[in-house]
Formats: sequence, C-alpha cells, structure tokens
Amino acid sequence: MRDAAVGEILVQPDELARRVRELGRQITRDYEGRDLLLVGVLKGAVFFLSDLMRHIDVPCEVDFMAVASYGSSTDSSGVVRILKDLDTTLEGRHVLIVEDIVDSGLTLQYLLRNLGVRNPASMEVCALLTKPARLKVALEPRYVGFEIPNRFVVGYGLDHVERYRNLPYVAVLQTEE
Ligand code: IMP
Ligand code: MG
Repeated sequence: MRDAAVGEILVQPDELARRVRELGRQITRDYEGRDLLLVGVLKGAVFFLSDLMRHIDVPCEVDFMAVASYGSSTDSSGVVRILKDLDTTLEGRHVLIVEDIVDSGLTLQYLLRNLGVRNPASMEVCALLTKPARLKVALEPRYVGFEIPNRFVVGYGLDHVERYRNLPYVAVLQTEE
C-alpha cells in the first residue's frame, strides 16, 4: 500500500545502488594504504553506511554517534546534543563521517568541531544527499551522493518523525505546510 504522503521519487533504488558503489570505489582509491574509521550518524546514515562499507576495500572499522538537534521536525537549529558518543578514540585515525543528508549544515558543522578536537589524523565527510540551496555554513563534504532540490525527503534511512526509513528510494514528503 502506497502512503499518500510519499510523493515524487527523486532517487530510484538502482541509482542509489550505482552511486553508492561508485563512492565506495572512490573512497577505496583515496584511502589506499591507510586504515579507515567510518563514523555513522544515527539513525539515518545506518542504511547508507552499511551499503557503502561493503564497497570499501581498505581495512576499516565502524563506530556510531547519535545526535539530536533542537528545532522542528523539518528544521534543525544548529544546537546539537550528543545522545550517544563514540565508543572508540579518534587519536591519529583517518576518520570519515557518514551522513544521510546535509541540509543547513549546522549539525555537520557541530560534529566537525566536536570530533576535530579529538586529534584525528584526517577527517572527511561523505553525505548521501546535500541540499545546496539550504546550506547556511561554509562546508563542503568531500564525497556527495546526490545534490537534491530544497524539498523534504524521506526513504533509504531518512525519516519524518521516525517513519519512512524503510523505503528503498528517496522521495519527497508532501507536508501540509
Ligand atoms: P542540518 O543540521 O540542517 O544540516 O540537518 C541535518 C539533519 O536534519 C539530517 O541529519 C537529518 O536527520 C535531518 N534532515 C534534514 N533535511 C532532511 C530531509 O529532507 N529529510 C529527512 N531528514 C532531514
Ligand atoms: Mg534525522
């Protein structure tokens, strides 16, 4: 049964699979000879990260962090609270932060500052989606899956009030506003 709130599909399952494979290959080339630590931001990035990691062919580990940003269900405020911190240390490690989506960029800016002071050997960002029109801060993820227009999207890990993460594609959510 199709949910009426789920609108236009922006990224189809086969496009997701193809791009994730490409990103994995690119990351493999870039990190050749180095060990990698993938840092996933719960919960949305879990789906993307687990697919991506299976296409990365350098020794790698994974750890997770959970953050909540104050604000409405569709707008983050940039005031971020850590709900779950990493289990591992970042000291001297090559860190790749994996995010589902960069919207205003405020959450990512906070993460980069917070993790940056833990002395990683390097730190880059891989985001499945970015909304360039919404970006409020100067940051550019090293790896981006797709640039999308300024619409609220769900699926492939992305939620609206915790629902729709299970959709195998990325689609626009029709909101009443
Ligand atoms: P930012 O701090 O504005 O960049 O927002 C980052 C977080 O807001 C993301 O990690 C998502 O959890 C959430 N978010 C932003 N845009 C969307 C969207 O279109 N759909 C679902 N979640 C979103
Ligand atoms: Mg989220």
